[in-house]
Amino acid sequence: MVRLSSQLLAALLPSLIYAQSTTLPPPPPPPPPPSSSSAPTACNNSPDLCPRAYNNITHIGGHNSAFLRDSSTGNSIAGNQYYNATLALSSGLRLLQAQVHLHNNVLELCHSLCELLDTGSLQDWLSKINYWLSTNPDEVVTLLLVNADNQPITSFGDVFQASSISQYGFTPSNTTTGAKWPTLSEMITANQRLVTFITDIDESPSFPYLLSEFSHVFETPFNITSPSQFACALDRPSSSGTASSALSSGMLPLMNHFMYIDLTSGIQIPNVDSIDKTNSPSLTVSNDTTGSLGRHAELCAGPGQWGQNPVFVLVDFFNRGPAIETGDRLNGIEGKAVGRTALPAEGNGAATAGAAGGGGDLKMNKGAFGALVGFLGVALVVL
Ligand SMILES: *[C@@H]1O[C@H](CO)[C@@H](O)[C@H](O)[C@H]1NC(C)=O
Ligand SMILES: *[C@@H]1O[C@H](CO)[C@@H](O)[C@H](O)[C@H]1NC(C)=O
Ligand SMILES: *[C@@H]1O[C@H](CO)[C@@H](O)[C@H](O)[C@H]1NC(C)=O
Ligand SMILES: *[C@@H]1O[C@H](CO)[C@@H](O)[C@H](O)[C@H]1NC(C)=O
Ligand SMILES: *[C@@H]1O[C@H](CO)[C@@H](O)[C@H](O)[C@H]1NC(C)=O
Repeated sequence: MVRLSSQLLAALLPSLIYAQSTTLPPPPPPPPPPSSSSAPTACNNSPDLCPRAYNNITHIGGHNSAFLRDSSTGNSIAGNQYYNATLALSSGLRLLQAQVHLHNNVLELCHSLCELLDTGSLQDWLSKINYWLSTNPDEVVTLLLVNADNQPITSFGDVFQASSISQYGFTPSNTTTGAKWPTLSEMITANQRLVTFITDIDESPSFPYLLSEFSHVFETPFNITSPSQFACALDRPSSSGTASSALSSGMLPLMNHFMYIDLTSGIQIPNVDSIDKTNSPSLTVSNDTTGSLGRHAELCAGPGQWGQNPVFVLVDFFNRGPAIETGDRLNGIEGKAVGRTALPAEGNGAATAGAAGGGGDLKMNKGAFGALVGFLGVALVVL
């Protein structure tokens, strides 16, 4: 919606009148489109979400969103997603989690070990997300980075600046845990559309948009190997006590909802065989939906637990379920989302075959994986 001030209207009137005459020269070009000072019409895929506070929305996210199980990684069984991070954003996800390691003095996106799966530099990845943000101006995106090698905040800040994504960094006006979060509309208008949380980092005024995850967010357990283990209890940070004490101090709840399979002793890989059930939005209380995404969220939001929806949810293979359906339901926009791009079919370039079709690859890769582990002489937990 564009509101014209009376001065602007007066300035425009002559050209509007001239436009009706065919004998006069063409009118001057129209004024530039409204800048970011005008209110967005849809935020994060819905007009309904614009007036909602950032922490009163469920942000559905890709766990290990840089680790793909596709042709780019030889269908690595260490991959957690079929589609990359910007395809994830275009399809509706608004949270991306990634693991960052130091490799040859560069911050790289590696899975547990760079020898196992290295999908490139953090800077390249952020540059692509920066481009996505620049072409999608009404979207608020959250990053959650695992600082696996305990690098200082300056190393992250340098990469955020080099990729230019720092231009969108959200800086809280009040950094106290539990301080009020702005609405999506306010964040979009201020063009502070990227919320970044990093684990194990000391916040610094030099990079005020890089936030320490465990000063603002608590997580449920992530080391799950059976559907009945999905829980709502606080796992990290232990300093926040229980989920209930963390919530009352204003910490934002993150629901981990992905499952591993034990390959051999000490080695876990994403459980893709159960993924359709794991990511299902189904709520039915039956043997079949124990551990479904919909059911897990309902349990956590229930009165005996948090009494509010999860603010963040992380899943593997996000297109299955599809996981976004649970987010839409929690956000009250089920069937009403706008501006999403459908994903190409699995196996069409961007992704590989699914659980059934990928069975052969899985076996082959298991062998390669075992050989690698043998070669390295270590036990790995591929989380
Ligand atoms: C969250 O948003 C819903 C839907 O607009 C609203 O009814 C509710 O009051 C909001 N809660 C808070 C704590 O702002
Ligand atoms: C994802 O894939 C698309 C299509 O191949 C590509 O344009 C985009 O840059 C990729 N994004 C990332 C984060 O790799
Ligand atoms: C910052 O937020 C905290 C927690 O809500 C509040 O107690 C404090 O007054 C706020 N500070 C300012 C300057 O608004
Ligand atoms: C995950 O759980 C398995 C089985 O309970 C255990 O052996 C393993 O050490 C755990 N790993 C982590 C990182 O907590
Ligand atoms: C379903 O759950 C009930 C109660 O837990 C159990 O008795 C029954 O055997 C289960 N059925 C199947 C098919 O697993």
